[in-house]
Amino acid sequence: MLSLVVLISGGGSNLRALLEASEDAEFPARVVAVGADRDADGFEHAEEFGIPTFSVAMTNFPDREAWGDSILEQVLAWSPDLVVLSGFMKLLPPRVVAALSPNLINTHPAYLPEFPGAHAVRDALAAGATQTGASVIVVDNGVDSGPIISQERIPVLPGDTEERLHERIKPVERRLLIQAILDIANSQIDLKELARS
Ligand code: GRF
Repeated sequence: MLSLVVLISGGGSNLRALLEASEDAEFPARVVAVGADRDADGFEHAEEFGIPTFSVAMTNFPDREAWGDSILEQVLAWSPDLVVLSGFMKLLPPRVVAALSPNLINTHPAYLPEFPGAHAVRDALAAGATQTGASVIVVDNGVDSGPIISQERIPVLPGDTEERLHERIKPVERRLLIQAILDIANSQIDLKELARS
């Protein structure tokens, strides 16, 4: 049984999908704690499922490294097998990535390496892309630049707004994330191998 710590910043719809998947006794992973860089709306899902939460706001620290060290301390207190970033909108400092890698994965609403960064959906629309996608990657020190675990193409439809396209991407992200966790738990995916690639 993999123990997961999930880090979010926003509404946590991908987190909710993980919590709901964990309800299935067959699902080989459990969320043990949910963290955020703010008092995230998505905490409501954790509270509904009785999962402890913690928030570490960067404004409470002199610099990014001190903030990162505090997040790392909170994460390690749960001894997770895997840390999942899902809608976490901050870059973790290299010290944190080094401490957690390769058991640190992220979901991204684009077909990486296309459209990395915090505005992937907006950027795809602005570029006039006719298709985009969703990706699950191993986190490295870059911006959404780590080894790809899985990804899937999603069409951009005429008249798509950022919100409508993002809402079409998220279910695919959720499916890819849950499958990635299944594959990691069942050793179908070797994160150490992938991180070396
Ligand atoms: C997801 O698309 C995630 O990949 C991106 O922000 C969105 C978060 O959605 N970074 P939610 O908070 O899980 O609803």
